[in-house]
Amino acid sequence: MRGNLWNERLETAMRAAREAGAALLAHPSFTVTHKSANDYVTDADRGSEERIRSILLGEWPQDGFLGEEEGESAGRGGRWIVDPIDGTTNFIFDLPLYTISIAYEEAGELVLGCVYCPRLDEMYTAVRGQGAFCNGKPIRVRENAVLRDALVGMSFAHRSERAGERMLRAIPLLREGCSDMRRLGSAALDLCFVACGRYDAYVELALYIYDIAAGMVILREAGGVVEAWPGDAQPVEKSGNVFASSRAIHEPLRELLACVPEK
Ligand code: IPD
Ligand code: CA
Ligand code: CA
Repeated sequence: MRGNLWNERLETAMRAAREAGAALLAHPSFTVTHKSANDYVTDADRGSEERIRSILLGEWPQDGFLGEEEGESAGRGGRWIVDPIDGTTNFIFDLPLYTISIAYEEAGELVLGCVYCPRLDEMYTAVRGQGAFCNGKPIRVRENAVLRDALVGMSFAHRSERAGERMLRAIPLLREGCSDMRRLGSAALDLCFVACGRYDAYVELALYIYDIAAGMVILREAGGVVEAWPGDAQPVEKSGNVFASSRAIHEPLRELLACVPEK
């Protein structure tokens, strides 16, 4: 019964993501404003959130809603967690890797995720307990267990001085210990790339729940692991310090991250 409602909600989320994606592709121009250092927002972000919100709450009026741009409205049941454009900098610079990220949480547990990349026309989806999919085909994490061969997504944590310094201490270890690194610019897509085996792992610091909620469900359902960095006091949902990987590479990478100097 509950599972069925999750599947129905996923259908709504996919429709909202597709409609928002089509609107972004058709968006002729946009105005850019600064939220804070290195953090931009456009009228397309706001328009996308409004569109998604009206589709989700139109079909599920009792639900709560947390959106990056307009904040939270309480409901009587679970809540939607939405990033209307994850990768706004890519969107502004016409780099194709930006996504729409929609998750649904019930009783404090993330139960479904939908991440849509309109320029790739890739729709990643998962419902808890039912596996993960890209455009309807099952996806799975890589089986590579050799850290030295691993491709790792990361970022420079450019919006937080403290997190940025921690990442700069991690980079030499990652550079030595892994095969290579990538910085895409959409956390949601980074998590999906681990889920579908394009990456072995993804590490980033100081994200927010709307950046990662949908991707976390998708990655877990694809057989991956996502948690906070080793040694952190807070869970990943609170700190946004993401250590995501296939199961095969998880332990060696955890050992590497545990060696990142504290100062
Ligand atoms: C950003 C992207 C990016 C990450 C940033 C996020 P936004 O989200 O996920 O990959 O490095 O920290 O804030 O601002 O484009 O929604
Ligand atoms: Ca984001
Ligand atoms: Ca965003």
